[in-house]
Amino acid sequence: MKNVLINGITVAYERLGEGTPLMLIHGFPLDHTIWNETAFLLKNDFDLLLPDLRGFGQSSATDAPYTIPDMADDLAGLLDRLGVEQIALAGHSMGGYVALAFAKKYPQRVSGIALVASQTIADTLERKEGRAKTAALVAKNGVRIVADSMTAKFSAHENTQNLIRDLINRQNKSGVTGALKAMAEREDLSSLLASFNFHVVLVHGDADDLISVDRAREAQALLPSARLIELPNIGHAPMMDAAEKIAEALTLL
Ligand code: MLT
Repeated sequence: MKNVLINGITVAYERLGEGTPLMLIHGFPLDHTIWNETAFLLKNDFDLLLPDLRGFGQSSATDAPYTIPDMADDLAGLLDRLGVEQIALAGHSMGGYVALAFAKKYPQRVSGIALVASQTIADTLERKEGRAKTAALVAKNGVRIVADSMTAKFSAHENTQNLIRDLINRQNKSGVTGALKAMAEREDLSSLLASFNFHVVLVHGDADDLISVDRAREAQALLPSARLIELPNIGHAPMMDAAEKIAEALTLL
């Protein structure tokens, strides 16, 4: 992995392939490695950037506060450093929230957006409360509680579950609590969809227990030109359980 110092923190990233610039942004509480199989399938057509968001993987895990717009700023800083002016963004779940925040602040830098198992709306009060409780437990006892409670919700497949559980257990406590608060505070960016003048792809498993496929259907209703691809019997880790379908969907960007 390579590292750059941006906004006072180390941002780690992988870059591979040749072609149209495309950034693959991981979700919570994971890192860029969730995209490994997808990246392998896309590297002949895309110049791929796979960052670790602040707080995750090999990027710095700072103390609080964390915000989704700060994560988007880190990615803009990374692009500046690499001399990439415009790029397509594919965000998994929380990575989709970051992609939307990036598009809000840097619209001219976006050539397409794919929301993979993600959503445009903000948290409900109930979800915010749940996140606050989880953050308090993680602060006290570590990330294991998140691995235990979330893993089965990502996938019904044992192999994927094992990978996800290990990945979550390797994440940093400050990054995980920080991102929980950042997600709880994120704004509803549904109204941004109408301003998108580039390709938008919504990919969602119809067995996603963490974010219902209804969120993707609602986003598509707000932006009828968006391509909605529903994956039957796929949960919240489509890039791991259906990498070929994800790669195919991202070629639409
Ligand atoms: C994710 O996978 O990034 C999170 O589950 C998203 C969320 O909790 O809103």
